[in-house]
Amino acid sequence: MTATPRLPDFAWGVATSAFQIEGATAEDGRGPSVWDTYAGTPGKIRDGHTADTACDHYHRYPEDIALMRDLGIDVYRFSISWPRVRPGGTGAVNDAGLDFYERLVDGLLDAGITPLATLYHWDLPQPLEDAGGWLDRDTAHRFAEYAAICAERLGDRVRHWITLNEPFEHMALGYALGQHAPGHLLLLDALPAAHHQLLGHGLATSALRAAGAPFVMLTNSYTPAVPFSGNENDLAAAAAYDLIHRRLFTDPVLVGRYPDFSALGLGALPFLKDGDLEAIAQPLDGLGVNYYNPTRLTAAPPESPLPFDIVEFDDVKTTDFDWPVIPSGLTQTLVELTEDYGDALPPLWITENGCSYSVPPAADGTIPDQDRIDYLAAHVEALDAATAQGVDVRGYLVWSLLDNFEWAEGYHQRFGLVHVDPETQDRTPKASFDWYRRHIEERRGATQRQSESRRP
Ligand code: FCB
Repeated sequence: MTATPRLPDFAWGVATSAFQIEGATAEDGRGPSVWDTYAGTPGKIRDGHTADTACDHYHRYPEDIALMRDLGIDVYRFSISWPRVRPGGTGAVNDAGLDFYERLVDGLLDAGITPLATLYHWDLPQPLEDAGGWLDRDTAHRFAEYAAICAERLGDRVRHWITLNEPFEHMALGYALGQHAPGHLLLLDALPAAHHQLLGHGLATSALRAAGAPFVMLTNSYTPAVPFSGNENDLAAAAAYDLIHRRLFTDPVLVGRYPDFSALGLGALPFLKDGDLEAIAQPLDGLGVNYYNPTRLTAAPPESPLPFDIVEFDDVKTTDFDWPVIPSGLTQTLVELTEDYGDALPPLWITENGCSYSVPPAADGTIPDQDRIDYLAAHVEALDAATAQGVDVRGYLVWSLLDNFEWAEGYHQRFGLVHVDPETQDRTPKASFDWYRRHIEERRGATQRQSESRRP
């Protein structure tokens, strides 16, 4: 076993998630997750794509580690599949599932890459959904048990953990709007799914600490809420959106209380029990920020169940996903978090940033994805602008290493630095892979030169 490498003061990396890359959904005792069920339901995923094979990373992980070694990254963020480790969500542990992550982590350590493991990236074991999923409080306790199981087996090698990925997106798309698994359309009645995820985060953090974990973060998606105009109703719509997207998932974690939700028409929170906020507000070593774009908001018509409408930005470049390319939104996100949470804010990590552009291989076999290079370069610059304003950022991770299964969009949205042919599974590094490799090298060189020149 190789020791965990020490992370540099600023770490460069890439991120993936289990369901989006692993495949092998019925192998070695893995049970079904909500995403297997959802993707298997006709009409849910574009063109009926499934993740049954995905990038076949379950078998090809040595090749993927070799790619990451070539890329020269410090840290790799991946997620552990709960239904591989404890297929029933409760009850027996599946050792064969943990064996896979042990092999992966050992391979990473041998390659000099620090593993950063996310415990939950949306793939809830189906039996837990059948018992109520995140709408049910017990799921938070099951999650803490699963965290303890992972830490017990992997904690000697995995020192860096993320509890949840983007609980806002999971609540909004999966429970409020019916666009992701498990497919509920509950609008604001989805709120218990937020609270129980947050409770799960807090309980899992305590379980990881009890197992000796020195570094724990939560990863949220953040987006500046931009009012359509200076009109008071648009300003109120933007504030209401910020409340549900950002403050709902940040205030309880960092300052131990929920904000006032009256702008959303909500009063007392019936699911909030004594002691929950203390359980949620565990000290963290970092806060993960996933940033893709800002969100523009206008007042909703009076009959609307939500107090805001999302509108498009005018005249901006968009990615293949139609997401606006606005790098300054990253600076704004980081500066606002720093201003709004002050001393309560732990160091920030960009745990995802990237873009969807589909560029087929050219005649000479190269993949000239200049749009992705431009996107990444501009966002790294936006990150530097935040640092120059005093924001404490410790890492930047590109979403994603590989073209993968992009949830409801199937294989249509391609976020990878590495092209994956879904038929042959052949991996081809794109031009953006070479750009990122050179970028990391240059930045590392610059940091070294700086620290040498500071030496007496
Ligand atoms: C994020 C998800 C990630 C991927 C990117 C494009 O919201 O965390 O799995 O889908 O978006």
